[in-house]
Amino acid sequence: MYLIGIDSSTTATKSLIIDADRGIVAVAAAEYPFETPHPLWSEQHPDLWWDGTVQSIRAALDQSGIDPAEVAAVGVSGQMHGLVLLDEDGEVLRPAILWNDQRTGKQCDDMRLWLGKENLVRITGNDALTGFTAPKILWVRDNEPEIYARVRQILLPKDYVRYKLTGDFATDKAGAGGTALLELATREWSPTLLAALEILPKFLPTTHEGTQVTGVISPEAAQATGLRAGTPVVGGGGDQSAQAVGVGAIAEGIVALTLGTSGVVFATVNEPFYEPEGRLHAFPHALPHKWHLMGVMLSAAGSLRWYRDTLAPGVGYDELLAPAADVPIGSEGLLFLPYLTGERTPHPDPVARGAFVGLTVRHGLPHLTRAVLEGVAFGLRDSFALMQKAGLGAIHQVRVSGGGARSPLWRQILADVLGSELVTVNTSETAGAAYGAALLAGVGAGIWPDGESACAATVRITGSTVSRPSAVDAYHKSYELYQGLYPALKPTFDGAPTVR
Ligand code: XUL
Repeated sequence: MYLIGIDSSTTATKSLIIDADRGIVAVAAAEYPFETPHPLWSEQHPDLWWDGTVQSIRAALDQSGIDPAEVAAVGVSGQMHGLVLLDEDGEVLRPAILWNDQRTGKQCDDMRLWLGKENLVRITGNDALTGFTAPKILWVRDNEPEIYARVRQILLPKDYVRYKLTGDFATDKAGAGGTALLELATREWSPTLLAALEILPKFLPTTHEGTQVTGVISPEAAQATGLRAGTPVVGGGGDQSAQAVGVGAIAEGIVALTLGTSGVVFATVNEPFYEPEGRLHAFPHALPHKWHLMGVMLSAAGSLRWYRDTLAPGVGYDELLAPAADVPIGSEGLLFLPYLTGERTPHPDPVARGAFVGLTVRHGLPHLTRAVLEGVAFGLRDSFALMQKAGLGAIHQVRVSGGGARSPLWRQILADVLGSELVTVNTSETAGAAYGAALLAGVGAGIWPDGESACAATVRITGSTVSRPSAVDAYHKSYELYQGLYPALKPTFDGAPTVR
């Protein structure tokens, strides 16, 4: 039997078909743009995800040559925190406001004022952050009252795709956690929050565990995609928890480190657990009875891409990174602050900015390159440090994935900065959230009894990078200097004009 995982990200929708015994049999993606109509805004029309879903499912089915009747279930995953608003006919009311949109500073302040930050963190596990869904709902109510008056359904991006596939308004617990409207402990919408924010519960989708079936492919969706009507669709998960399932980071002590455009440090916990000041995200996991802590750096491999496109356009990453391997640890005093699109962890600050600090005439392009790799590693270390401070147990293994993890130099820098062994798994490069969603679909379809069995059957360790004690010591000193940068530069960031 086959399983399909769909991941609608900010840049593309990817559909992946796996054979439960043989692994991936087909992958297809359809790309699309997103808009920044004003500084700090980030929007996308939901049609793009649905068109991308239809195209990529059709292409993957064609590639694999399988009979759609042999697809046991479909799992959905996608970008988290975005806001989709539908009217009474199920029509989209305005472009979706995405996870990386930063317009809702006032609404986050309002949430803290009305509920108290401590209370917010105690109920949801999180502070009100500009990227989360709840303040976006308040923003539309405050700024586009004529649109808000017509709202009958609130969905996350991934669940708009689910709605188009099944006709049902449903979401997964992991994704729901990213709205800032879910109670962390009970994994249900919080009556206290909904009452305080005056959001009608009937406008929210039903919540389901990632492995539960939420509906079936409708006749209309079957016609559009080529799938068989009646094929079960499972809860799946927000992209980060689905990604963690895809690399088998589903047990305490195993951390998933994703080096994509953003950088994510993801730690599974067996109880609802949060950082008392809400500086880490705390959401339900895509697997039942599990939760996770998460630190998100907004520009990780995104920093390297910006750097390459700006200072070495057209140069391949291998060529760009090779000379940086000969630069001494610490880039001879050059530090890079990776807050090119503001930051979330450890400083939730939309106006934080990037910086090179410590430049001298000695520094050439290889120093700058290495400083970017090191600065991103230091930023990720901040999340590890916060987790340890919050009382997370020992970390035994870090499973690294995402485009940036392809670089052996970056993996070594990360191992040395984190003082920890990094492992790659067979799914590190190709799999991602769509693979995790397919595994969740497999559990929903009864192919595996639980997520643990699905991961044990399909994910294996393929490589390891160990930290070098002398490098760990050297980086410790650079990290201390790095930690001083944000507080020192904060007044400059606050005084700068708002641009994006
Ligand atoms: C997670 C997050 C990102 C988006 C982008 O908190 O904001 O991973 O989901 O895909």
